[in-house]
Amino acid sequence: MSNPAQRLSLRRPDDWHVHLRDGAVLQAVAPATARQFARAIVMPNLSPPVTTVAAAEAYRERIRAAVPAGCGFTPLLTAYLTDTIDPAEIERGFNAGVFTACKLYPAHATTNAAAGVSDLARITPVLETLERIGMPLLVHGEVTDAAIDIFDREAVFVERHLAPLLRRHSALKVVLEHITTAEAADFVATGGPNLAATITPHHLHINRNAMFQGGLRPDFYCLPVAKRERHRLALRAAATSGDPSFFLGTDSAPHLRHAKEAACGCAGIFNAPYAIESYAQVFEEEGALERLEAFASLYGPRFYGLPPNEERITLVGEAHTVPARLHLNDAAGEAVELVPFHAGELLRWRLSPEGDV
Ligand code: NCD
Ligand code: ZN
Repeated sequence: MSNPAQRLSLRRPDDWHVHLRDGAVLQAVAPATARQFARAIVMPNLSPPVTTVAAAEAYRERIRAAVPAGCGFTPLLTAYLTDTIDPAEIERGFNAGVFTACKLYPAHATTNAAAGVSDLARITPVLETLERIGMPLLVHGEVTDAAIDIFDREAVFVERHLAPLLRRHSALKVVLEHITTAEAADFVATGGPNLAATITPHHLHINRNAMFQGGLRPDFYCLPVAKRERHRLALRAAATSGDPSFFLGTDSAPHLRHAKEAACGCAGIFNAPYAIESYAQVFEEEGALERLEAFASLYGPRFYGLPPNEERITLVGEAHTVPARLHLNDAAGEAVELVPFHAGELLRWRLSPEGDV
């Protein structure tokens, strides 16, 4: 007789950093997030970016229409900061429950960041507003200076820009998004209760070698780019430490296969389809499965001042192989081709499709 499969019950998690895209692709990718997560902080780097309350409300409706009816998924919208955004518009959106947070992209740092902030000094009135109303600032923490090596851009951002910003705005709530370095993890761990960080599944699983294993591997290219092994180990330690400053944010960033496998391929890893299974594997490997629920379902809402979810999900200890490619139906009923994170690999845990059983 075989042993019954192990089961792990958790409060339903939230994803505190995801790209759901728009148009046809939104329809194809949003169900993967809604299947696992109750809420998600949705990034505003559309083309054009989400900079007004009206644009965010319209986008929220398109997201709601793209997820299965009755799945109980709540998208939490963000405002894309530009040099000229009006602080009054942000405050109006926050008070109306449309904007949950603001996203700071240094200009040209990543996909659709051309309209981002060119100099932090230009948004001082915005930062003062966020500080006063208690609205979180979500930071893509990389310098864009071409003279700085790409593998050093996060650590240099923390020292040159983030530390002085926090000194100038001591009451500002800041999430340093998708951290990739030991320096960032140390900075956040010692930064006090107004500073937190999200950690992606891919930065817990891969180091920079993955991009060059046996050839050029665009499916492992994302921004901030994966770093050396010592940084991956520091991130695993931070995520599984039980420190409430670190919580789940996938940074799932889908690009169609042909846009990734190109002479100038796009940055981004599509990890949404198996995200919670991917995190569960890391926590199990680190002997910290009992800390998964807090990282995935408690520390995020605590930082954002929201209640944790009451529903539960079940993970079952049943190994399964992730498909090499996914063909997902877009809004027009056409299949779009995407390569999921862990393509062709075995994952130890499977999310039970029946919910909590
Ligand atoms: C993101 C995207 O494609 O929108 N890409 C990525 O590599 N993570 C942008 C971002 O979060 O940097
Ligand atoms: Zn992102």
